[in-house]
Amino acid sequence: MEYKNILLSFEDEIGILTINRPKALNALNRETLNEIQLALQEVKDHSEIKVLILTGAGERAFVAGADILEMKDMNSIEALNFSKLGHHTLKMIQDLDRVVIAAVNGYALGGGTEIALACDFIYASENARFGLPEVTLGIFPGFGGTQRLPRLIGKGKAKELIFTGKMITAQEAYQMGIVNRVVPQASLMEETKKVASQIASNGTIGIRLAKMVIDAGYNMDLTEACALESYAFGIGFASEDQKEGMNAFVEKRKPNFKGR
Ligand code: CAA
Repeated sequence: MEYKNILLSFEDEIGILTINRPKALNALNRETLNEIQLALQEVKDHSEIKVLILTGAGERAFVAGADILEMKDMNSIEALNFSKLGHHTLKMIQDLDRVVIAAVNGYALGGGTEIALACDFIYASENARFGLPEVTLGIFPGFGGTQRLPRLIGKGKAKELIFTGKMITAQEAYQMGIVNRVVPQASLMEETKKVASQIASNGTIGIRLAKMVIDAGYNMDLTEACALESYAFGIGFASEDQKEGMNAFVEKRKPNFKGR
């Protein structure tokens, strides 16, 4: 499919979704959010794709936030609908039955930090900058920042970032547990693809079940979450991947997982 504001490419088992509005530092307007939803549907239709990398075009920005020019004159109902559109898009990323890695290659501000937080984990380049500067615009985060960030780093640190609106470096984001790894900008895609390939070589069914159990269990009571894990663990034994993985171990060979 042809898109105006994003690029979607496939390399073996890895999909790459690039937000491509470099003149606006890849800011998220409604059209871009709708296109991301279509692209996620397209990824779903490609069963060979096991990992999706989300990144931004150019070297300056991952995503510099929701599009301020588009938001500027919104009324309350339009802002509500815009927030809902953002939430729906980010939920689609979070719930995608593939691993999604954010490769943050520059500014990830406001909606940029928020869309990265909806991914399974984040790799960042040394020049990446994170932050939720919405309060400097007289608003506050509307694409999940008030909810996903406290769940990831705790309420106190999240409140400090949201109330000050300050920008933090990739290294600071790493120390806070927002980012898994910081690498030089020139090697960001290479390093992200490396971990994506490692994930893709493992049993797809096991990874899908693990993602579902981690996300669904996160806000559950531990006893219920562990029960969910047991059921999902049992379901995993209905897969060919389980037979192949364990037979390969016994036969001392590399497994050839089919994702079935
Ligand atoms: N929306 C629309 N356009 C944006 C944008 C945004 N979020 N961020 C940058 N741009 C545009 C600029 O308007 C500028 O366009 P022109 O060349 O046509 O003037 C272009 O991108 C380049 O930006 P700058 O000239 O500002 O570049 P800079 O290097 O001086 O500064 C920056 C970079 C620090 C990222 C700065 O652009 C900036 O502060 N951007 C806004 C960041 C922000 O506040 N994000 C939060 C948005 S609100 C939000 O996301 C709400 C939500 O939770 C849903």
